[in-house]
Amino acid sequence: MGARRDQDGDGAARGGGAALREATREGRVRQGLGTRPIVLIGLMGAGKSTVGRRLAARLGLPFRDADTEIEEAAGMTIPDIFEMYGEAHFRDGERRVIDRLLREGAIVLATGGGAFMDETTRAAVKESGVSVWLKADLDTLMRRVRKRANRPLLQTPDPEGTMRALMDKRYPVYAMADVVVESHDGAHEEVVEAVVAALDAHFDTTAGDAP
Ligand code: S3P
Repeated sequence: MGARRDQDGDGAARGGGAALREATREGRVRQGLGTRPIVLIGLMGAGKSTVGRRLAARLGLPFRDADTEIEEAAGMTIPDIFEMYGEAHFRDGERRVIDRLLREGAIVLATGGGAFMDETTRAAVKESGVSVWLKADLDTLMRRVRKRANRPLLQTPDPEGTMRALMDKRYPVYAMADVVVESHDGAHEEVVEAVVAALDAHFDTTAGDAP
């Protein structure tokens, strides 16, 4: 467990300790991560999948999307799972799939908006991953989710009111994430950049705590 990885040897410089300190931010993030996954959390429309895919490419790590994996495991879409079996059934599947994905090592994992609200999943993420909350304001979220009608929880007479209620309920829990990054409506690359910088700073202050 204790081994620090020096995957690419891209100009690693000597740090103060026994481990070589990577010279690039991406290298330091991979080093700080070790074998843990980066777990993206946040509300629907926060950009977890889009940012996650780009972040993974940037860090040279595999990308996994929990919602996609749930759909593949069930052989049906999330709206169909909700409609045919209900939300509780979806949450059971979500818990199992994320538990499996958390064992894949250093990956970037985008989770569905409700995943971190589940106590078991939250504990598992805390235990084996590094969580990043992509925090967005109501306007940004609504602008993004309006593009697709694939969110069963927003099929209500007042989707904006529903989203506001979800923000009230979930944001205090999302705030338990290791790292918080504002996800604004600008270029996704800027959010990716902010995530890399925030993770680098996180590992800098928690150096020595990493497994
Ligand atoms: C949900 C978010 C969705 C999906 C499901 C439930 C939620 O994922 O998991 O519709 O509870 O917030 P995204 O956050 O990727 O849209």
